[in-house]
Amino acid sequence: MPYAKIIGSGGYLPPRVVSNDELAADLATRQIVTSDTWITERTGIRQRHLADPGVVTSQLATEAARRALADAGVDASELDLIIVATSTPDFIFPSTACLVQAQLGNKGAAAFDVQAVCSGFVYALTTAEAFIRAERATTALVIGAEVFSSILDWNDRGTCVLFGDGAGAVVLRASEEPGILGARLNADGSQMKILYAAGNVAHGEVTGDPFLRMDGQAVFKLAVTSLAASAQGVCESAGIRLEDIDWLVPHQANVRIINFLGRKLGLPEDKVVITVDRHANTSAASVPLALDAARRDGRVKPGDLVLMQGVGGGFTWGSVLARM
Ligand code: ACO
Repeated sequence: MPYAKIIGSGGYLPPRVVSNDELAADLATRQIVTSDTWITERTGIRQRHLADPGVVTSQLATEAARRALADAGVDASELDLIIVATSTPDFIFPSTACLVQAQLGNKGAAAFDVQAVCSGFVYALTTAEAFIRAERATTALVIGAEVFSSILDWNDRGTCVLFGDGAGAVVLRASEEPGILGARLNADGSQMKILYAAGNVAHGEVTGDPFLRMDGQAVFKLAVTSLAASAQGVCESAGIRLEDIDWLVPHQANVRIINFLGRKLGLPEDKVVITVDRHANTSAASVPLALDAARRDGRVKPGDLVLMQGVGGGFTWGSVLARM
């Protein structure tokens, strides 16, 4: 049975950078009070990239995909599977994956979206790995991409300061060499109420509330406990000790969640990749963007053991353990 190996990665962030001070000044024009100090102390976020109006998820996804394909030295025509994880698709249908496929010029690959909010990338990566292990695909493109700014209530300071836009991608290929060593996905739909965007389009109208709503403290607690259990579970199943992990690449929601998690797992800070300060929370894009940043700056090297973790709305969570 072949392994699925990550052979390339790419990331794309829209060029407009908005600092906490700029965001605070903008919110102040609507009598909404926040500050760089509050945002930095509670979340570790210093800035976010925001897409200009009219920019859609497939555009960010395609750019990240092109960079990942170039890094892997793979032509788009070689892909036989394309999965996009997103909660902010361009359309109801077709899937964003099909739109990316067309923009890349690939014809014939299976293409579909996965919806698991901030866990979307680890869900998509696990799905692609299963296709490759089962020999139903040989070369897969897995993307996490979001224009999350489009579902934020910009009058709610409790949520709008937390998120950003972006896309990250990896190319997976069937390999005799070890690649992905283990994966574990979980969900608990009964926790829907702590994080949701419960709107829909039906009969030509938006029904319900199309904006993200969150119980921040409940999310915080569940994120830390579920990710810690998931990390322990995936390592145990793969016969790997937590202390043998070279890099933890967790979902980038909040630096306090990441620090709590690192301490709970006994991983030193210098083994944890953090990009939330620069990217904010980009939902499904956060893990591949962080992985790509750490590969490009030379921290994550071939042969390293990397634990990627996602957690988010649903409630969903999951882990992928990969030998790079
Ligand atoms: N600026 C200033 N004050 C604010 C802001 C803001 N942007 N947002 C909330 N406040 C105020 C609140 O109104 C409240 O004021 P009050 O005491 O007068 O009522 C006060 O700050 C404290 O609010 P809390 O919600 O209790 O603040 P908390 O310390 O819990 O921090 C936070 C909020 C950062 C959201 C935290 O709960 C958290 O990190 N939760 C995790 C959720 C998360 O990261 N979600 C991301 C999406 S989910 C995911 O990706 C998994």
